Amino acid sequence: MPITFDESTRCFHLQNDRISYIIRLAAGRYPLHLYWGRRLRAVSDDLLSRLCAYTDEDFSLHETPLDLLPQECPTFGCGDMREGMLHVLHADGTHALDLQYVSHEIIDGKPALPGLPSARGEGAQTLQLTLRDSESGLSVTLTYTVWPDVDIVARSMRVTNGGASPAVIERALSACVDFEQADFSLLTLSGAWARERGIVSRPLVPGDQGTSTARGASSVQTSPFMALLAPNTTEQTGDVYAFALCYSGSFAASVHVDQFSMARAQIGIQPFNFSWTLDPGDSFQTPEAYLCFSPDGLNGMSRQYHALTHRHITTGRYAAAERPLLINNWEATYFDFNEEKLLALARCAKDVGIDLFVLDDGWFGHRDADNSSLGDWFDDVRKLPDGLAGLSARVHAMGLKFGLWVEPEMISPDSELCRAHPDWCIHAGSRMRVESRHQLVLDLSRQDVRDYIVEHIGAALRRAQVDYVKWDMNRNINMWGSAQLPPERMRELGHRYILGLYDIMSRIIAQFPDVLFESCAGGGGRFDLGMMCFMPQAWCSDDTDAHMRSRIQYATSLVFPPSTMGAHVSAVPNHQTGRITPLETRAAVAMGGTYGYELDLLRLPQQELDEIAALNRRVKSMQRLLLYGVFYRLKSPFEGNETAWMSVSEDGREAVVTHVFTLAQPNAKPALLRLVGLNPSLDYRDEATGRVYGGDELMHHGIRIEVPWNDYRAQQFHLIALDS
Ligand code: DGJ
Repeated sequence: MPITFDESTRCFHLQNDRISYIIRLAAGRYPLHLYWGRRLRAVSDDLLSRLCAYTDEDFSLHETPLDLLPQECPTFGCGDMREGMLHVLHADGTHALDLQYVSHEIIDGKPALPGLPSARGEGAQTLQLTLRDSESGLSVTLTYTVWPDVDIVARSMRVTNGGASPAVIERALSACVDFEQADFSLLTLSGAWARERGIVSRPLVPGDQGTSTARGASSVQTSPFMALLAPNTTEQTGDVYAFALCYSGSFAASVHVDQFSMARAQIGIQPFNFSWTLDPGDSFQTPEAYLCFSPDGLNGMSRQYHALTHRHITTGRYAAAERPLLINNWEATYFDFNEEKLLALARCAKDVGIDLFVLDDGWFGHRDADNSSLGDWFDDVRKLPDGLAGLSARVHAMGLKFGLWVEPEMISPDSELCRAHPDWCIHAGSRMRVESRHQLVLDLSRQDVRDYIVEHIGAALRRAQVDYVKWDMNRNINMWGSAQLPPERMRELGHRYILGLYDIMSRIIAQFPDVLFESCAGGGGRFDLGMMCFMPQAWCSDDTDAHMRSRIQYATSLVFPPSTMGAHVSAVPNHQTGRITPLETRAAVAMGGTYGYELDLLRLPQQELDEIAALNRRVKSMQRLLLYGVFYRLKSPFEGNETAWMSVSEDGREAVVTHVFTLAQPNAKPALLRLVGLNPSLDYRDEATGRVYGGDELMHHGIRIEVPWNDYRAQQFHLIALDS
């Protein structure tokens, strides 16, 4: 049984073969956090006695120890002085919440969350623990799921107003874990446009720390994820406790280290600029958080998140399938194209073995630049005389699939839509509408707006007979306000926007079950598990420079597997950095994700086209391994001159290893790269050189890496076990 309740000790033990998460009801009433880590066979008296002093009958709020205790659902100002998971304004203006145990249920599987994406529950078991504040009638249900096949505990919270007056939720997080000590480093991901997800690590210090965003999207600046690393943790060793949120909007991930060096880690919807009025009888559901414990360092953590994503998050026809090699016309033409130009590019793509032609921005309204037409999803017949239907039919006739870019959530002030419905965008009354990229954000909290999007985007996708969609979103929200929400509910807009987004994505995707959807947000501005529940891949960054990409993808792989990362070979000099890197390197880096091209093939010499054709054959021969193999980071670009990673098949018989030297070094001896995850008793042959290596030798001694004579040089090994 993955979840048990022991009446005598009042302990819930959530477990699989490798991990345990244990909760104790103190004094039969308060859920305390007893343990999370490697699996324990049983809860000993000694473990119980650590919290015993506080758990007997004399436990009382008159002399509360709650400020000293590790709790599962702490609230502020009712004994505990730290910020808690839930903060509610009652009708009388007070905030106290004394949440005590009412009941629990252990169920097979995992219930879906109303309006929110969540992981599926194949083989899982779920605990629902209900607490109640008797004074206000407010109750809370904490939900915990454990699976046999991933070392992750999913948590979320539902708040229900069982009282007679409305209550205002000012803070409702998804998970809280109180660690009894704070000897950890905190690792988060931070960046910017074209520099997404750099790895940032620092020791915990007393007080508050963490990462958050209030931009209305999970953002390029940070990521809804944090990890606590025990001292000396490496990629392969050490205890890691990680938190990732299944949510695409503003979030906060924080750690508070208190007076006794206890660390309270929390994650959930960003409380700043949020509130939610809960009428009597209504409920509020928080997004799901995935808590991962790995005793095997950061790689161990990533393997768990990758397995969660592949087994329980991504859905649809492409979730576990190979992906078409695509060419996207964005960096080839930007807005300057006509049908003839597109068809020439498509023909050339077909000749080199590409499967899918994607038409990016600029096909609708009169969009010759980024300053108009969003919302007017009708074909620009100046560029496409027979519309999307004609272009798509011609591309299909070449034997290629056809894909289309859309940006459904946005509206240009210069659009018919905006002229007809000036109040459909997010705006703060009559104040100036602050544009970004000359556009405004549609108010997805409105049903009429959502219906318009579903109808018009659906019609365009049908017209274009699409096989693939790139769903873009190119700005964050400011001048927060909705023409339809009453003033007291205005701070609900951020969350209502995300619920609206999830609604339109589900409705549109349901109409196109065979289509591959890729999300995008000005690059990787909404690279989160919430989006992954709808679309199995996401454009990783607008930075297509191989050097920058190897950093961005390396850090992204902390949480997300290669199958989720859109990665393309682009032109040199690179359009974002001006950097010149070898084609082989650009391809090797793009093979770290869902492979494609983003350049004008027609400008390349025949020799490069031949190389591209050969690369495409290579990618296709290894694609399953590249996308779904067990992934290991080997050398960090954040720490030195080398970057390396590898993917190994589940049975350990095949591996692809990629190594990139950033800068060439004169007079250097060859490097050695130690591999992991292979079978030490097998011999492996490298497909490119024919050299044979022992698995033990590759892991304990290493594989020889030639030192290049020029910068940004990649070397790749495709190792296949020999039959013994
Ligand atoms: C931002 C995306 O990230 C790019 O790839 C491209 O699609 C542009 N938007 C188009 O406007």
